[in-house]
Amino acid sequence: MGGTLNSMPCKCMVFLVFILILRALLLPPLPGFGGVEWSNFVFIRNHSPESIGVRQDKFLEVPQIVWGLNNQKIAFARACLTAKLMNRTLLMPSLSASLFYKEIDLLQPISLDKVFQFDKFNALCSGVVQLGRYSDVLNRTRVLHSIGSFDDHEIIRIVGKNPFLWHDHWPVKDYAKVFECLVLVDEIAKEADRVVSRIRAVGGGKMELENDGSSFQPLPYVAVHMRIEIDWMIHCKKLEQRLQTNQICSSKKEIMERVKNIAGLKTPVVLYLAVADQLLKNSSILEGWQEGFLPFEKKKLGVDAIYSKYPYLIQSAIDYEVCLRADIFVGNSFSTFSSLIVLERTQKMIKIGVDDMCQMDLRWPSYAYNIAGESNGPMRWNTNMSDSSLKAISYGTDHIAC
Ligand SMILES: *[C@@H]1O[C@H](CO)[C@@H](O)[C@H](O)[C@H]1NC(C)=O
Ligand SMILES: *[C@@H]1O[C@H](CO)[C@@H](O)[C@H](O)[C@H]1NC(C)=O
Ligand SMILES: *[C@@H]1O[C@H](CO)[C@@H](O)[C@H](O)[C@H]1NC(C)=O
Ligand SMILES: *[C@@H]1O[C@H](CO)[C@@H](O)[C@H](O)[C@H]1NC(C)=O
Repeated sequence: MGGTLNSMPCKCMVFLVFILILRALLLPPLPGFGGVEWSNFVFIRNHSPESIGVRQDKFLEVPQIVWGLNNQKIAFARACLTAKLMNRTLLMPSLSASLFYKEIDLLQPISLDKVFQFDKFNALCSGVVQLGRYSDVLNRTRVLHSIGSFDDHEIIRIVGKNPFLWHDHWPVKDYAKVFECLVLVDEIAKEADRVVSRIRAVGGGKMELENDGSSFQPLPYVAVHMRIEIDWMIHCKKLEQRLQTNQICSSKKEIMERVKNIAGLKTPVVLYLAVADQLLKNSSILEGWQEGFLPFEKKKLGVDAIYSKYPYLIQSAIDYEVCLRADIFVGNSFSTFSSLIVLERTQKMIKIGVDDMCQMDLRWPSYAYNIAGESNGPMRWNTNMSDSSLKAISYGTDHIAC
C-alpha cells in the first residue's frame, strides 16, 4: 500500500485519524467534536478469571477491517494493540470477506469468529489482549458528549475510514504475539489440511529404512509465492524506479533460476506455486522448471473446488496456511503477504528453540527470490524480531537478515 499512503489526501486522512486517536487517548471529549463517540454501556456478563490483566468492563470498538488478508491481519493487530494500550477489551470487529478498495458496499462484512477461533484467541492472548462480544454490553443508547473523563465510558468507539492502516509504531514482537493468537476455525483449518495432504500425495514419497523397519517419508514441498501478474509488475516497476533498485520485480525466469539454486535442496521436490487466480488461466507458469522440480498450483492439484467454495478472504487464509506449513518457503520481500508468512515462520522457529536463524540446515527456512544469495540462489530470509516497527514488513525491504 506504499504508493497509496503516499498521496497527499491520504496523508491528510492518516494525520486526521491520528489526531482523533491521540485526542481520544489524551483528552476529555470536546462537545461537538465528532471523531469519537462516548456511549454509556453497561457490562452484564461475567468473564472467566483467566483474562485477569485486561479490563473487561471497558471496551474499544473499531470499524470494519478492510482490504487484503495481510492488511486485515495488520489492521486487526493494531486495533488489538490500541485496546491493550487503553487497557480495554476489544469488541470483536468484522473483517471483510471480499477484496475491494473503493466499493465500500461490496466489502461483505464477516465476523472475525467465522475465520479465527474466538475462545482460542482469548486463551492464547490472555493477559495481553482480549476480545469481547457485543452481547457482553447492554446498549443503553445514551450518547454522552461531555461528562467526566473519557476513561469512565464503557465503550470508546473509533470511527473514520480505515483508521488502522496508518504508518506504524508498534514493535514487531507485539504483532507476532497477536498473530500467534489467531488460529483458524476448524472448518477452514481442515480445508488447509486437505490442500497440504494433496500436495504431499502428488509427490509420492520414499520408503526409508529405520531400525525397526521402514517408514514412509513424504517428499518435502517448497511453497513459492510468485508475484508475476500484470498489476503487480506495474506496481513493482514503479517501486523499483522510486527506490532506485532492481531487486523487487523478478521475472518467472529469475524465480525459476533462484529456486533451482537453493543451497542443499534435494530433488525430486514438489513446488506449490501460490499465484494470483488470473495466472491459473495460463498453464505456462508450470512450464520450464528444472528436472526434479514438480510444479503444481491449485488447478493442477485439483483443489480449486475447495477454494472456489469460499470468498476471497478465506481462500487467501487457506493459501497463507499452506505456505506457512511448507518445508521451504520462497517469497518476495516486497510483498506483505510473503513478509507476514516469514514473520510467522520465524516466530515458529523461535518457539522450538532455534537461536541461530542463519544456520544452514534449519527446519523451516524461508528465502526471498527477489534478492540474490549464495551461488545465485535466493537470499535466506528471517524477520528481525527486535525491529521497533512493522515498516520493513508492510512496505518491503531488501535488508532481510542472514
Ligand atoms: C488494567 O486494569 C486492571 C483492572 O483495573 C489492572 O488490574 C491491570 O493492572 C491494568 N493493566 C495494565 C497493563 O495497566
Ligand atoms: C447502540 O445503540 C445505538 C442507537 O440505537 C446504535 O446506533 C449503536 O450502534 C448501538 N451500539 C452497539 C454497540 O450496539
Ligand atoms: C501465457 O503466458 C505466456 C508467458 O507469460 C505468454 O507468452 C502467453 O501468451 C500466455 N498465453 C495465454 C493464452 O495467455
Ligand atoms: C534488528 O533490529 C534492531 C533494532 O532496529 C537492530 O538494532 C539490529 O541491528 C537488527 N538486526 C539485524 C540483523 O538487522
